[in-house]
Formats: sequence, structure tokens, C-alpha cells
Amino acid sequence: MGERPRVVVSVGASADGKVALARDALLMREPSSKLWAALSPKAADFVDVIEVLKAQYGCNAFLEGSGSLVAEDETPTDLPAYDGDADELYEHFLPADIVGQVSPPHMWFMVVDSRGRVRWTEKHENWDALVLVSRATPADYLAYLRRERICYLVTGDDHVDLPAAIAALGTEVGITCILSTAGGGLNGALLRAGLIDEVYVTVLPALIGGLGTPSVMDGTPLAAGEPATRLELLSVHTDSGGTVRLHYAVADRQSA
Ligand SMILES: NC(=O)c1ccc[n+]([C@@H]2O[C@H](COP(=O)([O-])OP(=O)(O)OC[C@H]3O[C@@H](n4cnc5c(N)ncnc54)[C@H](OP(=O)(O)O)[C@@H]3O)[C@@H](O)[C@H]2O)c1
Repeated sequence: MGERPRVVVSVGASADGKVALARDALLMREPSSKLWAALSPKAADFVDVIEVLKAQYGCNAFLEGSGSLVAEDETPTDLPAYDGDADELYEHFLPADIVGQVSPPHMWFMVVDSRGRVRWTEKHENWDALVLVSRATPADYLAYLRRERICYLVTGDDHVDLPAAIAALGTEVGITCILSTAGGGLNGALLRAGLIDEVYVTVLPALIGGLGTPSVMDGTPLAAGEPATRLELLSVHTDSGGTVRLHYAVADRQSA
């Protein structure tokens, strides 16, 4: 069996490690999008991490958590009820004509969404969505994805089994490198599952504060006596706008 895809996390954070302005203030929506953009004025020597990873690892897949697209207290629009045989929906949905596209130029936009909360309203040339769902995902949602011809992979019972999903993205879809641009919830879950190989933290010259505001890595706290994940610094880049990009490898994975 081949190796699982490489997982690289790229996250923009304030100097105090916050990745949003407040809980449920999604960066993809105004006014947060504008306020956040103002924290990192585009510098001429800005480096786009995805371009680096495309060149270095042939990276062709972004990973997001549902929390980047839907606030926790939001109620998604209703979907038509599915009245067919639900069992067949809980198979991966990976049509060959979509999965067989060549990269570059083809790219994947993947979202972990076991609760079926994301509604897909946009299409972009050379991009396909791929939803990571579980056996707890409502059948109505899986039927909706099939009607829209949006790929999905089913792993886990209550929530997505991240190790199994990442492995399946390699074996079933042929992905070799994944760039997680998620918030602290999904990145924290990837960390606890031992799935992160490299991290880029782009430190913005700002402080946000606020207990409960999403940070670079959230999720389950360490147990008493459990050690932190050690990193090896690979590079530091400071641009003329005052933004510092730190690039680390997860130390244990380096030698693997
Ligand atoms: N500054 C940045 O670079 C940056 C990047 C991305 C997002 N953000 C901001 O961060 C905020 C979102 O962060 P967040 O922490 O609320 O959301 P999040 O990172 O999207 O975390 C929630 C996601 O993690 C999944 N998840 C959590 N624990 C899991 C586990 N144990 N196993 C499998 N999946 C698990 C959830 O799955 P289910 O959906 O299946 O429950 C959900 O998809 C937003 O404000 C967003 O704008 C900032």
C-alpha cells in the first residue's frame, strides 16, 4: 500500500494565535473579510504558499472545515426528502469523469461536513468540490450531492474518520498532497490524529484576543502529562508589510 497524501497546514494568525476576529465571525463573509484583509496589506514580496506547494509537491487539493463556510448557530436551507434506498447513498460517490481529470490544471476543494451543512452554489473552472462525509450524514444531503454531481467520500460512523479519509483520498482519488486551509477545529483534529506533516503559520502584525476565538489549533486539549507536538523550523520569511511566515515540519514525521 502506498503512503498517505502529505498534509500541509497553512493558516493566517494574529500575533496571539487567533485565526478569526470572533467565534462565528466567518472570514469568508463581510465585515470580517474586509477587517481581516486590512491586517495584512499585500506586499510586493508576498509569497503564495499554494504556489510553493504546487511547485514542490504537485499539491492539487485544498481542505476546509465546514466551520469556514457555515457558522455553528446557522440553520442551512432545507433539502428535499430522499425517498429511495438510502443504503446505496452511503457508498463513495466518485464519478470517473470527474476523478479522472488531470492536474494541473484540475484542483480539488474539499470540505469535512459530516452534518451536511454546506450548500454548494458556486462552480469554478478547473475546480471540483469533494465532500468528506460519514455514515451519520443525512441521506437527504448525500442525495443532494449526487444530484449536483459533487463527489463525496464516506468514512467514520459519527464524524469523518480523518485517517481513513486522508488515506482514501490517496487510494481512491490519487491525491498526493493536501493543503489544509481550515480553522482551528479541523486543524486541531488533524493534529490529534497525527496527520500533519508541515505547517505554515503566517503571523499578521495584530492582536485579537478573546477567549473562545478560533486559534491555529483547537480541538481536544492534551491529557495531563501528554507531550506537545515538536516542530522543526524550516524557514522564516518576513515581508515588507510586516507579515512573518513561519514554515515548520512536524519533527516526528520528518524522519518517517
Ligand atoms: N485565518 C485563517 O487562515 C483561517 C482559515 C480557515 C478558517 N478560518 C476561520 O476560522 C473559523 C472556523 O474555525 P472553526 O474551528 O470554528 O471551524 P473548523 O476549523 O472548520 O472546524 C470544524 C470542522 O472540523 C471538523 N471536525 C472537528 N473535529 C473533528 C474530528 N474529531 N474528526 C473529524 N472532523 C472533525 C468538523 O466536522 P463536521 O462538519 O463533520 O462536524 C468541521 O468540518 C471561521 O471564523 C473561519 O473564518 C480562519
